[in-house]
Amino acid sequence: MTFDSLPMAPADPILGLTEAFNKDPNPNKINLSVGVYKDAEGKTPVFRAVKRAEEQILQRETSKDYMPIQGSPAYAERVQTLVLGVNHPAVVERRVATAHTPGGTGALRVAADFIKQMLPGRTVWLSDPTWPNHPNVFKAAGLPVQIYPYFDAAANALDFEAMTAKLRTLPEGDVVVLHGCCHNPTGIDPTPEQWQIIGDIMTERNLLPLIDFAYQGLGDGLEEDAAGVRSLCRPGRDVLICSSFSKNFGLYNERVGALTVVAANEQGVQAALSQIKACIRANYSNPPAHGAAIITTVLGDPELRAEWEAEVAAMRERINGMRALFVDTLRAKGVQRDFSFLKRQRGMFSFSGLTKEQVETLRRKYAIYILASGRINVAGMTEHNVGALCDAIAEVLCS
Ligand code: LMR
Repeated sequence: MTFDSLPMAPADPILGLTEAFNKDPNPNKINLSVGVYKDAEGKTPVFRAVKRAEEQILQRETSKDYMPIQGSPAYAERVQTLVLGVNHPAVVERRVATAHTPGGTGALRVAADFIKQMLPGRTVWLSDPTWPNHPNVFKAAGLPVQIYPYFDAAANALDFEAMTAKLRTLPEGDVVVLHGCCHNPTGIDPTPEQWQIIGDIMTERNLLPLIDFAYQGLGDGLEEDAAGVRSLCRPGRDVLICSSFSKNFGLYNERVGALTVVAANEQGVQAALSQIKACIRANYSNPPAHGAAIITTVLGDPELRAEWEAEVAAMRERINGMRALFVDTLRAKGVQRDFSFLKRQRGMFSFSGLTKEQVETLRRKYAIYILASGRINVAGMTEHNVGALCDAIAEVLCS
């Protein structure tokens, strides 16, 4: 058999749309598919704090020697403080280890390999719906994947009752993937009280939470967005946390993330880290340095950190402003359907409720790109494109 007899793989439901967008000759095209932040001018800028950190790195870097398999200790420490807060008991008790990974997707894949190799027989449970790449990552590692209810489409809300009822039936030891904040694709998160209940179920059923934490700071704030994650890191519990810094540092193409392991005790964390290192060594050997050097520098320098925090806050405020503008503009254009739920959602994404056919018409007729599921990247809207976007949606809803 030669390669020409291989079938073509289908285009990726997210990145494949951006490939199609890039080829689209329409000068008025709008890309609301992939989760990339755009500023008021429609650009994806490099953060000022990141540029300043890079200048420092360029000056001081004297070698491009390999990184340790799990990355640098300084990066691990800063990521732990960002994710778990200052002096979290798990950190104080030395029950936490962090491996620097290429992006959040890399962290998920390392976690998946670790589960497959060290925790045999476990099923991975994903929210319905979830990021379309989640099943790919876990299946690629050879893990069985199932779904638990999450979204109540009629109410545009979390179906907490159905979710918890299902979680209570899962076999002991199974893995539950939770979105730390800014659920992708719905933009709907559990409340702090609901996180507590989820944590209780994880303990009662002895389930392993795997938290995908890709949007810290884009919801309600860096600390606020970590509340759910922190509430699951209870004494005696094992937790896996996959961080991505694509969005909150704008480091999309540097591919920088982290896999943080919280274990019941120091012995557990050291054993898990040693196995995670073995997974990494057999995959990409050790991580690419640059993105982590930026994050270590920014988080370790009070002035750069303050600048970065202000930039994250500005990003968050712009996204929330666009949510309101989008809803108000739709209403001003005469759209009868109630889209006010968008204002209650958080993060980059909203589940618009547009059908596959409506999404298709938006693309074909108006060169507006959103996911087939109806997920819209609110962070891709601007004051310049929101009018045309709402005109097109109004027409599509009327036809
Ligand atoms: C998204 O959901 O659009 C982002 O997480 C980007 C990606 O890799 O899919």
